[in-house]
Amino acid sequence: MSEREHEVLTAAAEAALRAPSIFNTQPWQWRVDANTLELYADYDRQLTTTDPYGRFLLLSCGASLHHARVALAAAGWRVVVDRFPDPRDADLLARIRLAEPAVSAAEDLAMSAAIRARRTDRRPFAEQPVSDALLRDLVAAAQREGAQLYDVRPNQMPMLAVAVASAQATQRSGGAYRSELLRWTNRPQWSADGVPQKTGVTHVARRVPVRDFVSAPNQGMTVEPGGDLGARYLIVHGPGDEPKDWLRAGEAVSSVLLTAVSLGLGVAPISDVIEVEHPRALVRGLLPGSGQPYLIVRCGHCVDATPIDDAPRREATEAIRGPRP
Ligand SMILES: Cc1cc2nc3c(=O)[nH]c(=O)nc-3n(C[C@H](O)[C@H](O)[C@H](O)COP(=O)(O)O)c2cc1C
Repeated sequence: MSEREHEVLTAAAEAALRAPSIFNTQPWQWRVDANTLELYADYDRQLTTTDPYGRFLLLSCGASLHHARVALAAAGWRVVVDRFPDPRDADLLARIRLAEPAVSAAEDLAMSAAIRARRTDRRPFAEQPVSDALLRDLVAAAQREGAQLYDVRPNQMPMLAVAVASAQATQRSGGAYRSELLRWTNRPQWSADGVPQKTGVTHVARRVPVRDFVSAPNQGMTVEPGGDLGARYLIVHGPGDEPKDWLRAGEAVSSVLLTAVSLGLGVAPISDVIEVEHPRALVRGLLPGSGQPYLIVRCGHCVDATPIDDAPRREATEAIRGPRP
């Protein structure tokens, strides 16, 4: 491997660390090897109460995989991706091989810029609606990664709001969930993970309630009630419910998030409603046909241009390994 190729692969793994993940657990480990990047699941970072089956862990890893692919496309490389390449090693989720140099398109550069710009924005979005033209681009972004995107209809919004509120009430009533949430919203600085309370928002009446990451008073961003009127709630879905489907769903989620940001929209994932069985069935019932809901993306025009604090990320030295000895 030339020094240049090694640099490109390392830079792509570093970009992949910027991916969103459930509770900012960053449940991945990257390895830069001769001419390849390998993505491993890190099950020590699984949320055993919130995510007992590891669905959202795999989804988070899928988002990281997509970020790496975006970075490599922007760096001018065509790649070959093998998902679950080794049947004897279920933790090895993907292997990316540099195939040949290619000319990066303007969209690749815009998606790569969106990796740095994207934050989960839990503040309410504006009344200005997300246009049908923007929606079409987001639908295409999901389809490019093998998933579907369903725009929840206005007459279905009350059901979505009830389903989310019900999931949140179920989770809050469980001591194990509350401890897990508390642990991941009060991380020591050195661990460089978890959801900082300053990236959460104060509890106000919303079209659909957001997950409450704020446990201490005066910690989250103060927001006004009644927002989100122009927001779209987009269900990422597909037919399967296997590990390979969750990994691909994560790639689709990343594609939707980065496309939305590149189009100037704010974004926030919603997964609590999918984590709890009954609310998940309610969301499934909103879909046309018989798809499995993977995650919901709330997107809209931002009201407040104030930048959101960065959620921390682990150092590359911890999350990226070198070649096998
Ligand atoms: C699978 C998955 C599920 C998530 N679920 C939620 C959620 O229910 N509510 C929420 O506010 N953020 C959710 N997030 C966003 C993460 O909390 C966020 O990515 C993480 O804290 C890092 O912050 P950043 O996205 O600003 O980089 C989710 C992200 C992923 C990938």
